[in-house]
Amino acid sequence: MDFHHIPVLFEETIEMLNCKPGDIVVDGTLGGGGHAQAILERILPGGTLIGIDRDPDALEAATRRLHKYQDSLITVHDNFSNIESILDKLGIDAIDGMLMDLGVSSYQLDEVSRGFSYQSDAPLDMRMDPTQDFSAHDVVNKYDERRLTRIISQYGEERWAARIAKFIVDNRPINTTEELTQVIKAAIPASARRQGPHPAKRTFQAIRIEVNKELEILEAAIESAVNKLKPQGRLCIITFHSLEDRIVKNTFRKLQNPCTCPPDSPICICNSRPLVKIITRKPIIPSEREVSENPRSRSAKLRACQKV
Ligand SMILES: C[S@@+](CC[C@H](N)C(=O)[O-])C[C@H]1O[C@@H](n2cnc3c(N)ncnc32)[C@H](O)[C@@H]1O
Repeated sequence: MDFHHIPVLFEETIEMLNCKPGDIVVDGTLGGGGHAQAILERILPGGTLIGIDRDPDALEAATRRLHKYQDSLITVHDNFSNIESILDKLGIDAIDGMLMDLGVSSYQLDEVSRGFSYQSDAPLDMRMDPTQDFSAHDVVNKYDERRLTRIISQYGEERWAARIAKFIVDNRPINTTEELTQVIKAAIPASARRQGPHPAKRTFQAIRIEVNKELEILEAAIESAVNKLKPQGRLCIITFHSLEDRIVKNTFRKLQNPCTCPPDSPICICNSRPLVKIITRKPIIPSEREVSENPRSRSAKLRACQKV
């Protein structure tokens, strides 16, 4: 297994996390361990990194890469949305920082057998966690046309969503990525297919987000992570999708200003206190140089907050 992934917004993220020796830090999306290695170098001596990933291949690759830090690294096969129970099981009350570098890794996209890519032929799969039952095959072959339209339109921001959903339903069963790509191409008029990215890109992204429930878990996961931060502890999140970024922005704002009093109330009577301070007024985005060196960083946005 060749686990290749270039960490995105690397310097910026490490600076925002602001780790120091002795810290306990969680990398909720360990991946190939690129960010994790830099974190480990800053929290040693005395620190601990808890590296979580839903993909056992990622955990294996990161464990190999980080073997010289093995005494300071705990790897966990789980969803970071379970951060509170993960830390409880480890007997850790509070953490100094947490990173979520969302989405899929380059390894997952490039590994043909995982069925994420519209550029090669494989059974429809797209599960980040291969021990999960539900896969892209279920979404494509079992969802009704309305639900498919909604997902492709919302998660893929695809203007041809309704036509694609109809073509999918009319051409079932669809078993492989290549079959799905052909159906999507047939659904999009030739004139529209000539411009922009690969015609299957948006639909594949939408199905992947649905299979892995990537957006559904995010708000509650952020709240759980903030619950576990020590005062001054930092949460850094890198997103790759506008809906993801909106959830992060709105959840951070809600935690910074949780007051639920009516806007015309002269004083606060709900007594909610800010839980965090947002430390990235605007999201941090990759430099032109990073985008030219690593095109997959193009849509990345980093936001960070600090526990009050
Ligand atoms: C973009 S990669 C992370 C790359 C990593 N920062 C590095 O430097 O190599 C995202 C990783 O997070 C994992 N992942 C995504 N969502 C997750 C979740 N909710 N819980 C746990 N792992 C998740 C994926 O399986 C993937 O390995």
